[in-house]
Amino acid sequence: MEPAPRPVRAEDAPALRAFFQALEAERCPFLLEGGLPTTPDSVEDLVQGFLEEPRSALWVVERDAGVVGLAQFAPHAHPQQRHWGHLALAVLAPWRGRGLGRDLMAAFLAWAGGVDGLRHAAVEVFATNAPAIRLYERFGFTRDGVKRAAARVGEDFVDILLLSRRVDTLGK
Ligand SMILES: CC(C)(COP(=O)(O)OP(=O)(O)OC[C@H]1O[C@@H](n2cnc3c(N)ncnc32)[C@H](O)[C@@H]1OP(=O)(O)O)[C@@H](O)C(=O)NCCC(=O)NCCS
Repeated sequence: MEPAPRPVRAEDAPALRAFFQALEAERCPFLLEGGLPTTPDSVEDLVQGFLEEPRSALWVVERDAGVVGLAQFAPHAHPQQRHWGHLALAVLAPWRGRGLGRDLMAAFLAWAGGVDGLRHAAVEVFATNAPAIRLYERFGFTRDGVKRAAARVGEDFVDILLLSRRVDTLGK
């Protein structure tokens, strides 16, 4: 059986860095260029931050090639906002369309339902990113709003959609 998504471990840092480097090298039109942690220090900081914050999620899915997919959830720290946070998913191009995004989302939601006081997960997604929007909507995320022309991609200005869903048992 193929490995299921699992929380990242400290020793995953080099494989995680290779994942971010591969994702950056794709020049994916749905991600902000240069926005990923690709230096050893930045990846180690990311992993350390996750290990120190039990209400955050950094889940990886592996194949023989190494880390090929990631779910990242960052909860808000402010007491009035600690019931929600931001989720992002990514799967490397050669591995897309095989259900890994679905597996990562299902693993995230199962975990999030048990996190004390967590109520909402939000995502921000380029309006042009049909695969991601479809995945999020299939899992019950609904559209909260739009940041008009919030990202420049080449000569175009692209809207960023805000979607969210309840993650606590009550909202399911
Ligand atoms: C979004 C992403 C994580 C989906 O991962 P994936 O492993 O390809 O997704 P899956 O194979 O699990 O497919 C899950 C659902 O996603 C949607 N989807 C996946 N690929 C799609 C495509 N090419 N076109 C339309 N919908 C697609 C579908 O709803 C699919 O379910 P269905 O086939 O039952 O309809 C992946 O495309 C990705 O990493 N993209 C680049 C990074 C990114 O945009 N991340 C999101 C930033 S907010």
